[in-house]
Amino acid sequence: MSVRRLAEDQFQPAAFAFTAENAAWAEATIRKYPEGRQQSAVIPLLMRAQEQDGWVTRAAIEFIAQKLAMPYIRVLEVATFYTQFQLKPIGTKAHIQVCGTTPCMLRGSEALMEVCKRKIHHEPFERNESGTLSWEEVECQGACVNAPMVMIFKDAYEDLTPERLEEIIDAFEAGKGAEVKTGPQIDRHTSAPAGGPVTLLDEIRPVRSNLDPKPAEEAVSVPPGDAGRPKDTAAETNPAVKTPVTAPAAAQANAKAAEAGPLSGTEKSVPDPKAVGSTAEGAPAEGSDVAGTKK
Ligand code: FES
Repeated sequence: MSVRRLAEDQFQPAAFAFTAENAAWAEATIRKYPEGRQQSAVIPLLMRAQEQDGWVTRAAIEFIAQKLAMPYIRVLEVATFYTQFQLKPIGTKAHIQVCGTTPCMLRGSEALMEVCKRKIHHEPFERNESGTLSWEEVECQGACVNAPMVMIFKDAYEDLTPERLEEIIDAFEAGKGAEVKTGPQIDRHTSAPAGGPVTLLDEIRPVRSNLDPKPAEEAVSVPPGDAGRPKDTAAETNPAVKTPVTAPAAAQANAKAAEAGPLSGTEKSVPDPKAVGSTAEGAPAEGSDVAGTKK
């Protein structure tokens, strides 16, 4: 498993914005969540940003943090945790994620990685010469029964042999990835035993009486809890904090404010996330000492 860091500065664009269509989709997605829980849209928004640009840029992380009134570090944590999010440019036609966890390793994932090294690039995350293909090793993708397997974008390809993986890579390189059958690549129905079921062959009629829906008067509405909401006042969780690449003026102001005094733990130093004190470019607004902090 490789270390997950943002791409180097030379790859990072200066700004990010959703297209008009994606912006409308993002607004509709945010509205799906109850009042006060809009931050739950962070994963769908990151995924949409990735689908738009091909990978998740630092500017996109900042844009989404601002959109959801979240600290930048919280969105960064999500983007760097899940291997579904690509943090640097990947192959334009396919990025092969080879599962290398124990069941897949015991069933031949190392041979699959040899295929990737030979056909794409010796190093993971490096693109082939034409920039169309890349690969990486990932942890368990939840299809261990059908090991070994790879993910390509949102689809899984299971029960693989090196030869079958070569065919799949060739199909994607030829622009015919959509024609490749997803799921098991052998005669297996989903994750049932290869060759067909061997147990529970009799027809079983379930007794459904205890599964029927409860009458409406018994249903209880439970409001969402606060258990998953971080409550800290550390400086790095301040939503006004910007990175120097996408908001140089605001980052400079943050640094100056940090030199002048502690940024965390006091009412003076931690701005109200709802108080808008920065300009569109991220520079502190007039009357602000730190972006987002009114004097
Ligand atoms: S170990 Fe590979 S999918 Fe679980």
